[in-house]
Amino acid sequence: MMRGRFITLEGIDGAGKSSHLHWVARYLRSRGIRVKVTREPGGTPAGERLRRLVLGSRHRLHAETEALLMFAARREHLAKVIVPALEHGVWVVCDRFTDATYAYQSGGSGIAWKKIDALERWVHPGLQPDLTILFDVSPAVGRRRTARKRKLDRFEREQEAYFKRVRSAYLRRARANARRIRVLDAQEGLNQVKKELENILSRFY
Ligand code: TMP
Repeated sequence: MMRGRFITLEGIDGAGKSSHLHWVARYLRSRGIRVKVTREPGGTPAGERLRRLVLGSRHRLHAETEALLMFAARREHLAKVIVPALEHGVWVVCDRFTDATYAYQSGGSGIAWKKIDALERWVHPGLQPDLTILFDVSPAVGRRRTARKRKLDRFEREQEAYFKRVRSAYLRRARANARRIRVLDAQEGLNQVKKELENILSRFY
């Protein structure tokens, strides 16, 4: 059986990736591909509990605790959901993955890049997404979009300077992984973004 493909969507808060997640899944399904949609942090019962712990905490956790919990949730997610699906020929479309830990915990919160690198090599040696779509918007636009939400989580409450660092870290990841990570200008209108997505996906499979 052919292994499934692993696609991840990334971007700062308010970049619009979550609203396009199901569009991507529908697009692939309409071409006869079996798709599992999932997210990080989360995707398993334990992962969802860790998500609530990190995002819902009234008391801010230490940034390294956050990074370790992200990777703990990820280990579970890989073992129980991602790897079994890929082995069964199912494509996995995941809302965020390890690039987010580089962007947020290293870029945003200042943990050394090499510490995330060590965790990545521990938790998923030899496994990387086949394709990552980075929804790129300026922090000002991201903020405008998240401001419409009633209840903001721990990261959405961060200031613009934080998201500037998160965005730069994402773009640094994209430069270092140019074949895997496609940067999409998510500041465009909805139709233009969909066109661009279609373009990326049709060249991919
Ligand atoms: P989202 O589901 O709206 O994207 O929210 C998830 C939040 O978690 C988002 O603000 C980014 C943050 N996050 C990290 O800080 N590190 C990570 O490794 C992941 C996967 C998410």
